[in-house]
Amino acid sequence: MIKYIGSKRALLGQILAAVGAVAPPGARVLDLFSGTARVSHALKQAGYQVTANDHNAYAHVLGTCYVQADAERWAEPARRILEELDRLPPAPGWFTETYCVQSRFFHPDNGGRVEAIREAIARLGAEPELEAVLLTALLEAADRVDSTAGLQMAYMKRWARRAENPLKLRLPALLPRPAAGACRALCGEAEEVAAEVACDLAYLDPPYNQHSYLRNYHVWETLVRWDQPAVYGVAMKRADCRSRLSAFNSKRGIGPALARTVAALRCPTLVVSFNDEGYLDRAALEAMLAPRGHVQVIAIPHGRYVGAKIGIHNPRGEKVGTVGKLTNIEYLFVASERPLALPQVAA
Ligand SMILES: C[S@@+](CC[C@H](N)C(=O)[O-])C[C@H]1O[C@@H](n2cnc3c(N)ncnc32)[C@H](O)[C@@H]1O
Repeated sequence: MIKYIGSKRALLGQILAAVGAVAPPGARVLDLFSGTARVSHALKQAGYQVTANDHNAYAHVLGTCYVQADAERWAEPARRILEELDRLPPAPGWFTETYCVQSRFFHPDNGGRVEAIREAIARLGAEPELEAVLLTALLEAADRVDSTAGLQMAYMKRWARRAENPLKLRLPALLPRPAAGACRALCGEAEEVAAEVACDLAYLDPPYNQHSYLRNYHVWETLVRWDQPAVYGVAMKRADCRSRLSAFNSKRGIGPALARTVAALRCPTLVVSFNDEGYLDRAALEAMLAPRGHVQVIAIPHGRYVGAKIGIHNPRGEKVGTVGKLTNIEYLFVASERPLALPQVAA
């Protein structure tokens, strides 16, 4: 899966243990801010009937591939098509010029191949689940040969070593439909989806701070939308990064937005991820969740995101500073109507 700031890859075990302590496999789980869909994928694998939601188009594609699309339906046709797409010759055009020449997110050799494959996927006009599997394969292949420190606000001054590797498509790890029934992926605003989807448990992993996911992953949004947007700045960000804002990225907005979302949810149990570096502290979150019943907190010491280790870079990819702190605390807040015996990871 793609490199993603705030991804819960390293916390999957703890999240599954917390969910498992409150809801048995087969329960309906809503992952309201699904991002890479890793958590939803792990929940589907564990037998939950999952609804994944995220308001960005690239994350909706990842959710459709990893949550909604079932392996028994799509793995074989997707594998055959990916083999053909992987043989296409490069076809450089707008994407290569924008992200490989005017900026340097990918080597032009790979940019031309991304472009040929993306055009071919558009021409196929495949059913949405199959298209999402093909797009996810392309996105992940491009991510493996990108030339960034994991965020698309900047690119490396010199090509990252992996950028010179040839792009290679792989079939994403699709899962069979769980016995509990079909899973699905939505592309909505968290607050609205919270009010619409009834479930047994909701998992909330909102943004923690001012950094917009659309800005950080604007190339993925463009690769999925394939809309040749107007772009601005050294990093060639999509013009709509300026207008498509999330209340969860604002210091003043996040508290009220999260409180409204929590109040709107139609489920008895919530699991909320947050860390000790976000706009809201532990006490504020405990107070916000208190009306939902008993609140318990699991605190997990955790290494910070890769960018913290690589250092601070300016938009030209030049290192301009280092980050002092290399660990933080990831919290899992569990709010339920009755007290529960939860796995204790750390105090
Ligand atoms: C911390 S990340 C989630 C990471 C995810 N759990 C994972 O493991 O990959 C937060 C996600 O919230 C999404 N998001 C931000 N504001 C949103 C909103 N108002 N409604 C729905 N999704 C939103 C972002 O696109 C981002 O993918």
